[in-house]
Amino acid sequence: MRSPKDFFRPLAIGAPDPVREIPFRPSRMIHFFDPSNPKMVAKVPDLAPKVDILLGNLEDAVAAEHKEAARAGLVEVGRSWDPSGGTQLWTRVNALDSPWVLDDLTTLVAEIGDRLDVVMLPKVEGAEDIHYADRLLAQLEARAGLQRPLLLHAILETARGVANVEEICLASPRMQGLSLGPADLAADRRMKTTRVGGGHPGYLVREDPPDGDVDASRATAQQDLWHYTVARMVDACGVAGILPFYGPFGDIKDTVACEDQFRNAYLLGCVGAWSLHPVQIGIAKQVFSPEPAEVAWAKRVVEAMGDGTGAVMLDGKMQDDATYKQCQVVLDLARSLAE
Ligand code: GLV
Ligand code: MG
Repeated sequence: MRSPKDFFRPLAIGAPDPVREIPFRPSRMIHFFDPSNPKMVAKVPDLAPKVDILLGNLEDAVAAEHKEAARAGLVEVGRSWDPSGGTQLWTRVNALDSPWVLDDLTTLVAEIGDRLDVVMLPKVEGAEDIHYADRLLAQLEARAGLQRPLLLHAILETARGVANVEEICLASPRMQGLSLGPADLAADRRMKTTRVGGGHPGYLVREDPPDGDVDASRATAQQDLWHYTVARMVDACGVAGILPFYGPFGDIKDTVACEDQFRNAYLLGCVGAWSLHPVQIGIAKQVFSPEPAEVAWAKRVVEAMGDGTGAVMLDGKMQDDATYKQCQVVLDLARSLAE
């Protein structure tokens, strides 16, 4: 087993990583709960088996006066947590420049460090943030005598963070993944939106005018506000061998748009998204699991391609080494989720 000591040394940017190897665990939804709310804490035993990842949130959406109660509530959850259930237990701690984060990390590692899988760090702006958290965790793990290193997950939610995304992903072997934080990112970029993720009816393109008649009625189509950032994030995660996630979708009632946003992220390469309400758990589970028809098609292609080289035609569609690899991605995911 790797010891926390292996995770102490931050990687040089671009250095090959001799120890990173994230074992597959279903991660289709990171379900947020507020541990300062005793009613939510009481629901954890029922909720845990229904989600891939349960996250005790200590940061935004927890009022300043409830920060300590949230930390204590999560410690209570961690103490009675049964890791053999397979669900991962994560936390989102407060930002590294906040007055609460030091106590968050010190308390959580000492009290429930052996139950937590991943620490989500908000508002990460560069490798220096990851190096700081990496070193601090190493010290706290050593003091607590932990045998298993805690992993780190960064939220991409500032313009500077997006600009430095590759170095963030490569900053430490502890890095498990990245999430898009569309609400904070929108504010930081001074975008003119007032929503938590999702689209905007004003962000659209319009058909060209027929015969140059600009007064004629013309169809419009909404565009995905998050396409660039999600694609950038997926590539950076691919370079580092870590996992990209879409973040929150705040309009809980709009399950259709939530599903569309999640699916765009899935198709672009994300492995999961946040769920902020129980209704979003099922959406994420469905969207981030390959559809049976897609799996059946992938099987046909792989069977038809034999050793995976050359070219064949299937239903009028050309298949070759590259489509074979695409199909393997779908089959690998389907197989891993079925295990
Ligand atoms: C999440 O933290 C966000 O800011 O969208
Ligand atoms: Mg945020």
